[in-house]
Amino acid sequence: MLLRMSFICLSCLGVFSQSQDRASLSRSNDPTGRCVYTFTVVNPQESSCPGGSSKSETDEIRTRLTLLEGLVSRLIAGGGSGASSGGLRHSDESVQEAYAQVTKERNQLQLDQEHLNTQVQRLQRTLAELSLEAEDLRQRPCEQMNTSAGALHENRHLRGYHFKNTSYQEMKAEVREVPASHLIPAGNHSFAGCGELVSVGDPVLHRKADGITGKYGVWFQDPDPEGPYYTRQTVWRIDAVGKEVRQLFVYEDMDQFSKGFPMKVLVLSEPVESTGATVYQNSLYYQRRRSRTLLRYNLTSESLEARLDLPHAGFHGQYPYSWGGYTDIDLAVDEHGLWAIYSTSKAKGAIIVSQLDPQSLEVRRSWETKIRKNSVGNAFMICGRLYTVASYTSPNTTISYMFDTLTNESQAIAVPFKNKYRYNSMVDYNHAQRKLYAWDNFHMVTYDVRLGGTGQSRS
Ligand SMILES: *[C@@H]1O[C@H](CO)[C@@H](O)[C@H](O)[C@H]1NC(C)=O
Ligand SMILES: *[C@@H]1O[C@H](CO)[C@@H](O)[C@H](O)[C@H]1NC(C)=O
Ligand SMILES: *[C@@H]1O[C@H](CO)[C@@H](O)[C@H](O)[C@H]1NC(C)=O
Ligand SMILES: *[C@@H]1O[C@H](CO)[C@@H](O)[C@H](O)[C@H]1NC(C)=O
Ligand SMILES: *[C@@H]1O[C@H](CO)[C@@H](O)[C@H](O)[C@H]1NC(C)=O
Ligand SMILES: *[C@@H]1O[C@H](CO)[C@@H](O)[C@H](O)[C@H]1NC(C)=O
Repeated sequence: MLLRMSFICLSCLGVFSQSQDRASLSRSNDPTGRCVYTFTVVNPQESSCPGGSSKSETDEIRTRLTLLEGLVSRLIAGGGSGASSGGLRHSDESVQEAYAQVTKERNQLQLDQEHLNTQVQRLQRTLAELSLEAEDLRQRPCEQMNTSAGALHENRHLRGYHFKNTSYQEMKAEVREVPASHLIPAGNHSFAGCGELVSVGDPVLHRKADGITGKYGVWFQDPDPEGPYYTRQTVWRIDAVGKEVRQLFVYEDMDQFSKGFPMKVLVLSEPVESTGATVYQNSLYYQRRRSRTLLRYNLTSESLEARLDLPHAGFHGQYPYSWGGYTDIDLAVDEHGLWAIYSTSKAKGAIIVSQLDPQSLEVRRSWETKIRKNSVGNAFMICGRLYTVASYTSPNTTISYMFDTLTNESQAIAVPFKNKYRYNSMVDYNHAQRKLYAWDNFHMVTYDVRLGGTGQSRS
């Protein structure tokens, strides 16, 4: 019986080692456009799934081995103490025969177990390699849904390789090396005016989206409302998943927002692209879907009041942040007004910052930085300075780069920043609340920020 079992086991080992290479990892968009990873391993022992694995096989052998060892020691003890055992008395030959047989089986089983352990280790190595690969794939932006911009997307990847050894990459490397202690000004931390970013607090959760359309989006409060209806307490939210994003949810205040009770839903006549929108002085500013057209929607009159193309701006997958998601044009508001963060083909993917006229949307002035837009996770403006977040997925990342529009100077910095939910699709600054607002994998969070007073004083 025991011999037969070990024979069966050996034969299944053969099958097992033949098919263990059939593990595979694949990646594809599901019908809603989300990127889905699938890890598949063929079960070598069974054509259907009643249960059982290599692990339980090992356990089984281990159990049998233990039983056998128990039997052997009992037999040895029985043979040694002879008469004292009383009941069962065997001749020396029969004991020795049984002992030899059991020893043989035990050796065979030990061999089997070693084989199985090797198999398990090999599988674990394969799994570890696949996990690494999965992590690597996750770092890269997911392929967009099939659109005519596919070609642009391809180009972007090619350009990405082309730029591997230009100054952008050097800038990134430089960023990594600068120790944080050199960069944090030891100034007055309760400084209330404009200053350089000193630190960012932990994310505070306000709301978790409950539907699939809430995977990414934008939310904000107006830092400078002028209208009669809406205040600094009003919260605005756009779920950005989907092709025709038009709904703007309005909440009376943070409390109602946290409970998920909108007071109103405005339907925009033109669809929104991605997560770059913002609210300022009672207008919603956003990029029209699949265009470089900027729109100003008056929240009081509930109508579009200004429309202008952002000159030469890349759009719909040409120069997004590293996440992708058509984050080509990011609008931002700070103490100095309204800004657009984007790139152009002339700038070859480097971030351009333009200050916009809030009324007409005309570009007042532009600055070209040396940081490649698709190498950063996100960006925002504080006091006329552009800050970039190194990663949108790493739970422990840094704000690694600053560009000052007053001096045209850039600086590598290392302010710790947490992507707690590992998929941060939007980061915007609100100077009235002195907080960053972010949308991190269904979670709408804010971060307190501390500015230092040791920088140049700004008007
Ligand atoms: C992508 O879209 C283009 C044009 O709409 C079409 O020709 C092509 O077959 C599509 N590709 C896939 C994989 O669906
Ligand atoms: C990258 O750098 C290498 C040597 O540093 C150079 O030979 C190569 O032409 C560069 N590639 C591009 C695309 O600039
Ligand atoms: C820091 O600045 C604030 C506001 O300017 C001031 O009230 C406070 O006294 C300063 N504290 C220190 C320690 O300098
Ligand atoms: C928005 O519309 C209201 C009502 O028509 C108007 O009073 C206000 O001036 C408009 N705001 C802007 C910034 O144009
Ligand atoms: C993040 O960094 C902090 C300090 O640098 C460290 O204590 C913490 O363990 C890190 N967390 C993760 C998830 O790596
Ligand atoms: C910064 O650059 C802008 C345009 O790129 C230019 O108009 C301005 O004079 C520069 N300022 C300084 C201080 O160099």
